[in-house]
Amino acid sequence: MRTPGRPKSESSLGEDVAQRQEGPITTPGRLKSESSLGEDVAQRQEGPITTPGRPKSESSLGEEPAAVGHGALSLKDVTLTYPTRRGAIHALGPVDLDIESGEFVAVLGPSGCGKSTLLKLASGLLAPTTGRLTLGGQPVLKPSRRTGVVFQKPLLLPWKNVQDNVLLPATTLGLPMPAARERAAALLKLVGLDGYAGNYPGELSGGMQQRVGIARMLLPDPDVLLMDEPFAALDALTREALTLELQRIWSQQRKSVLFITHSIPEAVFLADRILVMSPRPGRIVEDYRPGLPRPRTLETLGDAAFNAACHHLRRHFSHEAS
Ligand SMILES: Nc1ncnc2c1ncn2[C@@H]1O[C@H](COP(=O)(O)OP(=O)(O)OP(=O)(O)O)[C@@H](O)[C@H]1O
Ligand SMILES: [Mg+2]
Repeated sequence: MRTPGRPKSESSLGEDVAQRQEGPITTPGRLKSESSLGEDVAQRQEGPITTPGRPKSESSLGEEPAAVGHGALSLKDVTLTYPTRRGAIHALGPVDLDIESGEFVAVLGPSGCGKSTLLKLASGLLAPTTGRLTLGGQPVLKPSRRTGVVFQKPLLLPWKNVQDNVLLPATTLGLPMPAARERAAALLKLVGLDGYAGNYPGELSGGMQQRVGIARMLLPDPDVLLMDEPFAALDALTREALTLELQRIWSQQRKSVLFITHSIPEAVFLADRILVMSPRPGRIVEDYRPGLPRPRTLETLGDAAFNAACHHLRRHFSHEAS
């Protein structure tokens, strides 16, 4: 199905900074109505996620500590060097970054500049070589339920059905199962997969599998969503549908999001703030806020402001596209 009145934009949401030959904008999947997730099944039944202690003020002047939301992610002077047999690889930083609770931040940067490294640090999968990371004012020392991660491939267990794949974090985190099952069902509805709980990953399309990955990420009700090119492996149609769905999910749940992508239009469409990284070792060379109104629709792709923002960002990558 094609989009009626497709805007005259050169942009496609899946358009890569280095590959601008992707297909045309097409009609998204249906947008869902309000979900019962607003009630937050897991939180209702398990009690709230443990509130981190009050953050310490950065100031030594005795001022009132600033309030830090649960989803506030902070990196101070963070670097990461990989030790390898052929010597150290300085992959990232130094990076200083503060993401506010509920902010949608996209990261753009050339291949190999350290984007995935940044995401792994934020998730606690990697420890920084130098510097400090905090989430909600508390140090990030290891992976926790406070962060949900989605990678380019959803990495589902093929021998488990959709419901059990979504429930994996409940198993690993020891969450109460009845509440988790109820939440899994609500999340499958949220991502448009109600009716597929009993199917196996091999019976699903790539886009459906990625939706399962998103539902699984959301199961423990994390404070921050870390997404590493989650739609890059999908066809343009599915990618566009999931981009719209992610916007809808975010607008309902208002989690902090760190979203890595190679697509300038995807970054501008989804995020309020776009970080551009330099080649390795990746540093943040621009922190850009286009200020586009929400909600964004396919019509947004034709807006002058949208295209101006894409144009502004593309200057960083013009050598890649040529
Ligand atoms: N486990 C590792 N050991 C050694 N070097 C690594 C390791 N992981 C990544 N690197 C190196 O660190 C640099 C940054 O890698 P990273 O995966 O973060 O880049 P990226 O920006 O995500 O790239 P892409 O856009 O291609 O996904 C690269 O030079 C890569 O070769
Ligand atoms: Mg990467």
